[in-house]
Amino acid sequence: MKPRQRPWADRARAFIGHSLSKPLYRLFSLVPHWGIGLSGHDISQLTYAHSPLAGKRAVHLSDLHLDHYQPRHDRIVAAVGELRPDWIFITGDLLNVPEGLPHMFRFLAGLREVAPVFITLGNHDHYSGVPIDHYAELADRHKITLLINQATFIQTDDGEIAIVGVDDPSLHRADLSCLPPRAENRFTLLLAHAPNILDQLQDHHAVDLILCGHSHGGQCRIPGVPTVWLPPGCGGRIDGHHGEPGRRLYVNRGLGWSFLPLRWNCTPEIACIEWVDEQAELED
Ligand SMILES: [Fe+2]
Repeated sequence: MKPRQRPWADRARAFIGHSLSKPLYRLFSLVPHWGIGLSGHDISQLTYAHSPLAGKRAVHLSDLHLDHYQPRHDRIVAAVGELRPDWIFITGDLLNVPEGLPHMFRFLAGLREVAPVFITLGNHDHYSGVPIDHYAELADRHKITLLINQATFIQTDDGEIAIVGVDDPSLHRADLSCLPPRAENRFTLLLAHAPNILDQLQDHHAVDLILCGHSHGGQCRIPGVPTVWLPPGCGGRIDGHHGEPGRRLYVNRGLGWSFLPLRWNCTPEIACIEWVDEQAELED
């Protein structure tokens, strides 16, 4: 991986994020079961037309921030299992502090029993101070595919899916040169933590769908009031679909929290993706 020069603003954000993670972890460790608006989840159904993948299904999760394993994580694993996915994709912010690693990998191991799991990293994974090599070693040990500016290809009966994971775009770590060229019967899926990856794509980049998180859907929403909190790197994209057909981006509200274990009017989200036949879609 190429070392990249990061602007001072990114380094300042990383320093502040790193400095805040530990005291917040210690504070909320005193009341590990305390949390508001975190216990449930919505399941969003997303459908995309691409005949070579028709009948395939995937689950997209994001922003676990999993420093303590809670009963709700068992419920999430069970809900994902009931969806019977072929693949599970997780777009970063897996944890906040190194102490979360065994909890986070317990969760990932549960998901791995359901289907192959593909992950990429977010800003809080970097703020945690866990070296990338350590993430990679643990992912390898748990048979989880960690993609950091890398691509992997899976053959299906009628084509293939290219799963590309970039490092966090909000910290200017994404390197899109790992995207493969367009190919017939290939669906290129891009996993990126922050939605501003859409602003970094150029015309020659071939992407069919981008999955992101990072926004937490604003985390606290007051009806009738514009979202008060959105981290840098969202570009105003709070949740749902953005971009154009053929280059669509989906922003998942995520499952966890930042700064306060509180989500208000912003339920955690599991996204279930289904691919359908293009002809069947036209006839509907
Ligand atoms: Fe996050």
